[in-house]
Amino acid sequence: MNRRSFIRLIGGGVVFSATAGLTACSSEMPPEAIAAWQGPKPGTDVRKWILSYAILAPHSHNLQSWLVDLRTPNEIMLYCDLTRLLPETDPYYRQIMMSHGTFLELVDMAARERGIRANIELFPLGEFGPEEIDRRPLARIRLAKDPNIVKDPLFGQILKRHTNREVYDMSKAVPADVVQSMANSMRSYPIRFGFVGLDQSDTLEKHRAIAAEAWRIELTTPAKILETYKVLRVGAREIAKYRDGISINDPFLSVLVRLGLFDRSKAPKPDDSATVDQIENFNKNLESTPGFIWMITEGNGRTTQVNAGRAYVRVQLSGTAHGISMQPLQQALQEYPEQQASYKEIHNLLGASSPRYTVQMWARLGYGPQIEPAPRRGLEAHIAKS
Ligand SMILES: Cc1cc2nc3c(=O)[nH]c(=O)nc-3n(C[C@H](O)[C@H](O)[C@H](O)COP(=O)(O)O)c2cc1C
Repeated sequence: MNRRSFIRLIGGGVVFSATAGLTACSSEMPPEAIAAWQGPKPGTDVRKWILSYAILAPHSHNLQSWLVDLRTPNEIMLYCDLTRLLPETDPYYRQIMMSHGTFLELVDMAARERGIRANIELFPLGEFGPEEIDRRPLARIRLAKDPNIVKDPLFGQILKRHTNREVYDMSKAVPADVVQSMANSMRSYPIRFGFVGLDQSDTLEKHRAIAAEAWRIELTTPAKILETYKVLRVGAREIAKYRDGISINDPFLSVLVRLGLFDRSKAPKPDDSATVDQIENFNKNLESTPGFIWMITEGNGRTTQVNAGRAYVRVQLSGTAHGISMQPLQQALQEYPEQQASYKEIHNLLGASSPRYTVQMWARLGYGPQIEPAPRRGLEAHIAKS
């Protein structure tokens, strides 16, 4: 969200003039919020070393719902923190499952780097049902030294991978060989990968139109936008305090928050200039998108969803290695009633007849500017205390 639209969102010009001149603080990310991106310190215990990489995985709304139990030696038991869910926009927790898949994939990669095989057993006490998730473990990971283990070349990209929500360079197409290596990176998963680029401008337009409409729906459905507001972290203070969620780091805006001038308990109206502005901005980003990728699974069980997350982070790391920026676009893939038409449209466009097939990931990609990393809560916050 840019400053102009944000100011409009919270009621605009009066506030602006009342606080003009209060912008002397820094807009840099608080160092403690992004310290995790330095990687583990030398000498860190091996499981913690591995987990220090895993917590850099992408997670929907940056909720970081990973909880680990390290009480059994050589083992990591992974649970989902049930206080960190998005029931409005992710009612069946599909994206939460994917966000655990991304974590597990990085566990596997980091373990390999240390000559260790991570034997990952998903849902050791049984798979969650299709609608709910519960306190049972998501995965039991047994670590064992293995002289034959092969390192994963994508490991080196973990500290460089970031979700990029900026405008991309429309003069640069994503080359076919780069797309091919992204597809190859996930070939061990039975998931259909697809891509559309600048050479198919009609199809590209169809992608943009569906993404734009789905975004409009999300912004104008109060319960959905309020769910995002709950995890919006505005300004250095909030970012440093929570180190999760969606960060907006702008000193001016944080002053507004401190003055109590941004009420996050109320959704803006659909015709508020703030909402209209947001839609325009997103459309600009879509216009500056030279390609989209997607990932389709047959079936949509919990294991399938976790594996889709594992495959997605591989694709993103592979793109990172080639300088590609990426931003998932989950709105049209979401299962709440207001998105039904967009859900159908994207599934039809991609030849994924639902319910047999599910589009698990759809993302814009291209060449974007350098961006700052997203906050992380730090390893200790993820270790379950007995
Ligand atoms: C399953 C899943 C769904 C996501 N959906 C979106 C999305 O719809 N829009 C978006 O901008 N980012 C999306 N993201 C990216 C996350 O917001 C991002 O991973 C998180 O904010 C942390 O930032 P990082 O990826 O730069 O570390 C998604 C990530 C995952 C794993």
